[in-house]
Amino acid sequence: MKPTEILKRDHDVVRALFKRYEDLGDNSSAAKKETYQKVERELSAHAQLEEALFYPALKGATGETQETPLREAFEEHRLVKQLLRELSEMTPGEASFDAKFKVLRENVEHHAEEEERELFAMTSEMDPSDFRELGRTMAAYKRRQGLRIHPRRDRLKNALERVKTTVSRTVNRVRHRVEAEARAVANLRGSRRASRRKSRS
Ligand SMILES: [Fe+2]
Ligand SMILES: [Fe+2]
Repeated sequence: MKPTEILKRDHDVVRALFKRYEDLGDNSSAAKKETYQKVERELSAHAQLEEALFYPALKGATGETQETPLREAFEEHRLVKQLLRELSEMTPGEASFDAKFKVLRENVEHHAEEEERELFAMTSEMDPSDFRELGRTMAAYKRRQGLRIHPRRDRLKNALERVKTTVSRTVNRVRHRVEAEARAVANLRGSRRASRRKSRS
């Protein structure tokens, strides 16, 4: 698989997780925590992969001429890691966490978009056999770290949609049950009050 395809799939997974966090709304701190932990895992592993293999390969192929975008990419990674460290010490669901998470999202989306536009274009400078070899090395690196190569976004999107539907059905079922029980309790109280009034009169 092309190295750029491996990275693009990682980017799309993180973009989908950011979207999921946003869709969770204000009252889902447990789900927000879980989503944040996934974002943190994905981003840390992805940055590690790029810094260990992808960026050095680009530097090797382009030399000094394209050093600036690579330096910028390293700086952006440093900022993202700093935000992740700060978020890891906060509580997901709180307003201050949501604000910092939004800054993380903006930074990551900007970085991924720039990477796909500028750095991916730099791979055209690579020798085709080196490019293929880099893809194999990156895939093996992921496997060694116990990470998967993500499926393409369309398949992933469908899987996420299925999970979302199941979760919202379960939430609705529980809510209906709780509401029905609350109604039953209210009715019971009402009829007890009525019978007490009756027995007093
Ligand atoms: Fe990156
Ligand atoms: Fe990336």
